[in-house]
This record gives sequence, structure tokens and C-alpha cells, in this order.
Amino acid sequence: MKAFQPTRQKKASSSSQVKQTSQKKSPTKSAKAWEGRFTEATHALVERFTTSLPIDQRLFEYDIQGSMAHCQTLEKAKVLSKTECQKLIRGLTRVRSELRESQLPFADSDEDIHMAVERRLTELIGPLGGKLHTGRSRNDQVTLDLRLYLRDQLQVLNGQIQAVQSAFVQQANQHINTFLPGYTHLQRAQPVSLAHHFLAYVEMLERDKGRVNDALRRVNVMPLGSGALAGSNYPTDRTFTAKLLNFPALSQNSLDAVSDRDYVVEVLSILSLIMMHLSRLSEELILWSSQEFAFVELPDGFCTGSSMMPQKKNPDVPELIRGKTGRVYGQLVTLLTTLKGLPLSYNRDLQEDKEPLFDAMQTVLDSLTIYAELIQRLTVHHEVLEKAVGSGFLLATELADYLVQEGVPFREAHSIVGRLVQTCIKNKQELRDLSLVNLQAISPRFTKKALTFLTVEGAIDRKAQIGGTARKQVARQVRSWEQRLKKKTSA
Ligand code: ARG
Repeated sequence: MKAFQPTRQKKASSSSQVKQTSQKKSPTKSAKAWEGRFTEATHALVERFTTSLPIDQRLFEYDIQGSMAHCQTLEKAKVLSKTECQKLIRGLTRVRSELRESQLPFADSDEDIHMAVERRLTELIGPLGGKLHTGRSRNDQVTLDLRLYLRDQLQVLNGQIQAVQSAFVQQANQHINTFLPGYTHLQRAQPVSLAHHFLAYVEMLERDKGRVNDALRRVNVMPLGSGALAGSNYPTDRTFTAKLLNFPALSQNSLDAVSDRDYVVEVLSILSLIMMHLSRLSEELILWSSQEFAFVELPDGFCTGSSMMPQKKNPDVPELIRGKTGRVYGQLVTLLTTLKGLPLSYNRDLQEDKEPLFDAMQTVLDSLTIYAELIQRLTVHHEVLEKAVGSGFLLATELADYLVQEGVPFREAHSIVGRLVQTCIKNKQELRDLSLVNLQAISPRFTKKALTFLTVEGAIDRKAQIGGTARKQVARQVRSWEQRLKKKTSA
């Protein structure tokens, strides 16, 4: 089935807003499916307070897909006749068309998308609509919908992660020979290639994709047939339902199936990790595009200006992605907190799972989409990088390692070069300004060869182990990523 692309929806503050934002026709008055037990109509405020329709209406494709499979299962179990099943499926198809065209009039009594679909179905096909829910509860229905939604969204998510990876690999391919200071503690440390730096993000994102695929295995479990909590009284073939819906596994305990949302927590934690990675990237883009660094220039279309200061070009997009990271972490904590005190099995609290999930998912997808393009269009200021990599004693370690080659124990070499750096700082010099005489004044172990260690290219290419920044290694990595990313993402 094609992925349903949800649009971000505003949190509705009243049920009338539901109608405005989603469906064009005027609202319908209708009885509640469960009103038989009640003597008084639901309080208007309670109706507004308990509805999840503004949030879960985006699940309608999955809800109808699940209902169709349920009908077929009921037919196979001889609970429905063939004609009844066909009529129900035809009716559901009509409801789906109305929903797709935003033409389904929601009613105040529609507590959620499941009720809205069933009510409309019954309006369209008559009392037969009342047979749809046989042997099913909204409790197994809602978790089915969410699993179907996630199955699609996780594929979309991996596609978007891969798009950002591809943008980085393209940039890396251009910058195997571009060098910049690598930092630790935000202090200049050793030279690295820009390609190596970009590929670091490709690695992080690859692990994120791996986590998505891991989670997908646990999402991809079919809960229908669990009923409200205990199972179903009808002899339904759950394996058949799972086949219809393309699930490789069935839930094995009805209480667990209707009441845990650990798979949603898993997804939220993965979304949080992705945002953590994007937030670190944002921080670097913000620093690097500042006048202080000026390593890169962000494309104008991804920046904004100041309402007061005409000269400003602000990196608002990376700032917002960094900012929204807090929001996604918040959604994770929201759901964990919602779940922590719930006794088995279903509790209405669980309705609060969807808003954090949808919000976090949309935020992450938007952030990834933006970065896929922004990274591709990043301009690198080569002259600034060249200057930066030539200062700050980035080659001090090279000199120490040269002495090690000459037989000096590393600790002693470290201390000799430390003293050299101190002298340079005092004389406002760089290491490359030193002559052999200067070097030998500190240690007689220096020979002419030492001076050949003081090149950035040499420093880069000596890191020739797997994982190092040597050009040969990095070029190999670029080629290998190009190959790996050609393959489609799949679970
Ligand atoms: N809208 C609910 C949810 O999202 C499903 C309804 C279950 N309600 C009930 N009273 N059992 O979880």
C-alpha cells in the first residue's frame, strides 16, 4: 500500500476545529456506539476532552485497511457471509474515498477515527455496518493501525536518512583534498580532511538506519484478534489476517498486545538519537558559518535576515533543528511517563501515545529533508580552511612522532615538542617557521628529516590505518559509501 503522507495538524482545541481542519461537510449528530449502558448524554466538555479524532484521523488509511482484513477474516470464520463481506468492503471503500477527499462529515459523537469510520459505514450501508466490529475491540484495532502506520513511516524515515547520507558522500567526494583543523575540546588538534569529517556523519546516520530496521522487526507484529484484552470468542484465523496484512509475526499474548506501546517508545528513542546527531551537525554549521570561523557559507534560501540589522544572515534552520531536538526528547519522555504507571491491560491513557509520535516523526522527517538539500548546497571557503590548518600547532604531534621514530620514548618526545611550542608562542611563530638550528637548540635528536614532517599533507596521509584520515583511506571510504548507498534502503 502506498505510504500515507500525513500533514502536520494543529492540536484542535475544540471538536468544531476538527471539522474545519479535516472534513468539509457539516457535522452529523449521531448516537454513541456504547450509549446503551448510559442514562445521560456525554457532557460537551468531556466529549471535547476525550476525543482523539483531530490526532488519529491521519490513521484512516490504515484503519480501513485493517477493517477490510478483519471482514475477510470474519468471512473465513463463517461469521459473515460472502455477500456481507463484499458489501462491507464496498462500504469501507466508499468511506475511504470520502476521507481521502476530505468529504466525510465527522460527528460530535465520533470519539476517534475508528468510531467515525464505523458510524459512516453504517450510514452508508445500513445495519450491516454494525457487524464490522464483531470479535474486535478498538483496543486491538488502534495498536494495529499504529503498527501499520509505523511500518510505512519507518521506511520513509530510512529513505530520508539515506538522502542526507548521500548529500554528505557527494560533498566528501569533492573534499578528499580539502584539509581543516580537527578539534577536540573545540581547540585545534590535528589536521583532517573535510571528506573525513563529513563521513563521520554518514557513519552516525548509518547506525540510525540500523536501529530503525531493528525496531521494524518488533513493530511488524499483528495484534488483531486480541479483542479488548482477552482474545476473541470467534474462531478467527489470525495467521490468515497476518498474511492479508503482510505481517511476518503474530502477537502471542492478548493482554500484552493491547496494552504495551514499547515499540512506540523505541521509535521515539530512535528519533531522539537522530535529532541528537542532527543537532550536533547544526551546532557545527552554526559555528562554521559564523564570521569567527567562516569555514562554510549556508545557501541563502536556508537562512533568514534580521528585522533590524540589515547586514545579518542568520543560520535559523540549523538553530531550529538544534532547538527542536529538545522537543523530540520531550516526546520520548512524555510517552515513557505515560506508560510507567499503567496496570494491564488497555487504559485510555494510551491514547496519548499518538500525538508525541506524530509530532516527533514529522519534526525528524522535516529536519532530514532540509538537511539533505542544505548539505548538498553548502559552500566551502577553501582559503579560510587553508589558513586555519596552517596555524595552531596542528603538526606538533607529527614532530613528536618523528622523534619516536628516532628512538626517543614518546613521553620525552611529547615534552620536547611541548617546549618547542612554548618557544613558538613566546616568539609569535608557527612550528613551520623554525629552522633546524632552532629545533636542535631544544633537542639534538632532531635532524633535517624532522622538517619534512611539518607538512599538512604528510600529517594527513600518515593516518593510513582503517578509519584514519589519510587520503587513500578516505577515498576508499567514499567509494564504498557510494556503492552502499546505491542500494535501496530496506528492512
Ligand atoms: N482512541 C483510543 C486510543 O487511541 C482507542 C479507543 C479505545 N477506547 C476504549 N474506550 N477502549 O487509544
